[in-house]
Amino acid sequence: MYHILESQQFDQILINRIFSIANKLEKKTDNSLKGKIMASLFYEPSTRTRFSFESAMLRLGGNVITTENAKEFSSAVKGETLEDSIRVINNYADVIVLRHYEQGASHRASLVSDAPVINAGDGIGQHPTQALLDLYTIKRELGKINGISIAFVGDLRHGRTIRSLAYLLGKYKKVKIYFVSPKKLKVGEDIKEYLRRYKISYVETEYLETVISHVDVLYQTRIQKERFSDNKEYQKYKGCYRINLHLVAKMKGKSIIMHPLPRVDEILTEVDNSPKAVYFKQVGYGLLIRMALLKYVLRP
Ligand code: CP
Repeated sequence: MYHILESQQFDQILINRIFSIANKLEKKTDNSLKGKIMASLFYEPSTRTRFSFESAMLRLGGNVITTENAKEFSSAVKGETLEDSIRVINNYADVIVLRHYEQGASHRASLVSDAPVINAGDGIGQHPTQALLDLYTIKRELGKINGISIAFVGDLRHGRTIRSLAYLLGKYKKVKIYFVSPKKLKVGEDIKEYLRRYKISYVETEYLETVISHVDVLYQTRIQKERFSDNKEYQKYKGCYRINLHLVAKMKGKSIIMHPLPRVDEILTEVDNSPKAVYFKQVGYGLLIRMALLKYVLRP
């Protein structure tokens, strides 16, 4: 694998290899990317993905060149195509981390790039590095992936993180998925078709209270305001699932609450001190996974 574009590229052998690199990085300093340059090219806003990739590169001894708002501050404003920008950046960087508002943008970039392209989120498409860090969080916190039950909650129509994680979970045994969303924000047919093909059991429901006591992982997501063309529609769904301590009390003893973040109001801050709330720990695991991925794609 040269470019990292979608979760379907990963099998269990490769996932275990990335996890093993991440485990080792937690315990020792590593300057193996000294002399390498990473370009972070972000056409959509980000806090975690951009900073964590940049921090990962710096912690590995490498360097970073960056544009945090390429839509406004790169030559895209003058009409330069994504392909031409990528061809140019190939002269400056050894790896390109790309976030873009269009589904498929990373794939397009990979077709013209000699440097590895890492998809850091492409519209409502995928976010494979988030999915890997989510899976790593599950493994670290629950000690297993096979046999888990997980509820994906919220805006499943627009959520690229749940798309990518569902694809990865399709590689494991006896996983059960509950998709919890309003009818209008249901998960895409492509994912359900994939899960059926890999014989992963899933259920769709609008009612969180009916499933919350059955799951090992409650994966909460934000209603994605920026994906709605009509603000009235967004207001209709905003706040439709809010996790509070009353709901947390219904969860299994050894279960966890995850969120890719940013959070708006879908998990109340009163939940943050619960031992089940691992969403800020998840961010730390993300740094290790992104260090591991950079080491992997830039291996000699
Ligand atoms: N989880 C995630 O992708 O966060 P950012 O949008 O802040 O990068």
